[in-house]
Amino acid sequence: MTTRHLIARPTRQVLRLAARLLRGGRLVAFPTETVYGLGGDAGSDRAVAAIYAAKRRPRHNPLIVHVATLAAARLLARFDSRAERLARLFWPGPLTLVLRRRAGARLSRHIGAGLDSVALRIPANPVALALIRGSGCAIAAPSANHSGGVSPTRARHVRQSLGGRVSLIIDGGPCDVGLESTVLDLTGKVARLLRPGGVPLEALRRAIGPILLDEAESEELRPASPGRLLSHYAPTRPVRTNAQGPRAGEAYLGFGRAAQGATLNLSARADLGEAAANLFAMLRALDRPEFTAIAVAPIPRHGLGRAINDRLKRAAAPRRP
Ligand code: TXA
Ligand code: MG
Repeated sequence: MTTRHLIARPTRQVLRLAARLLRGGRLVAFPTETVYGLGGDAGSDRAVAAIYAAKRRPRHNPLIVHVATLAAARLLARFDSRAERLARLFWPGPLTLVLRRRAGARLSRHIGAGLDSVALRIPANPVALALIRGSGCAIAAPSANHSGGVSPTRARHVRQSLGGRVSLIIDGGPCDVGLESTVLDLTGKVARLLRPGGVPLEALRRAIGPILLDEAESEELRPASPGRLLSHYAPTRPVRTNAQGPRAGEAYLGFGRAAQGATLNLSARADLGEAAANLFAMLRALDRPEFTAIAVAPIPRHGLGRAINDRLKRAAAPRRP
């Protein structure tokens, strides 16, 4: 097996090769339950620099670090009682905790974009976990797409945007959740939601009480989480949200049974989990020149609907020049 086989199924042999590549400072794209990640050794300056370069990601936007165990996470950051509780309830899973970084943690100085915090999660995907364990390192992994584009939920999406920039893409099939992790900042007295995602806000509030939304839900000039800039998760075509139906020339992405005449339907049975899992793949599928724009049906705002609406709002936002 050589790296000429860019996309490979996660056999034991492929996972061994991937682990070796990661230890050598190379990049490997791999599946998680949320989206595909562009992984590199979080302790290697060279690997982390390569991630920023491959994604064309602004240097001020820090990376999430993936570990396989709570013990490994505790070596990198300080866990208070809220963090312990959330980790026990939701890890492995689509929750990223922003915590105070431990002095002396084996993390590249480029990871945190100059912040003294670090964003950590344990992904709930057996391939991701096997890869982290096999490599023996913590893995920095942003979504495996160009900065600002639609996140990949299939291995071929990764090849389409980053094919030339990674050593290997591990194909673990479609991602179960289909939306990125929820990012929760626990560095202050009161927890703050930096990005809605795969774990609903309601579930986090039940676990730890009050959570601030301020900047996460409004569009500040200097967002606390730089990944929350406007225009993100955007296909090439313009996106129009809360559309009751298509205008002439538009593709229509429906939701629920009422969505007659929809080009595609996120979930005919109006299930938010199914809609989340379909969202990015369907936005990509409709991103075609024969359509003037992609109109999207209204989506309920509770549970996973909060994250779906967040991504749609960003996809519809004014584009950077
Ligand atoms: O589901 C996910 O989280 C996926 C998979 C691959 O795990 N990863 C992902 O990474 O979405 P990325 O880089 O696309 O998004 C990371 C988000 C960004 O909004 C970034 O600004 C924020 O997390 N972030 C990372 N480190 C941070 C820190 N120390 N403080 C505040 N925000 C941070
Ligand atoms: Mg991303």
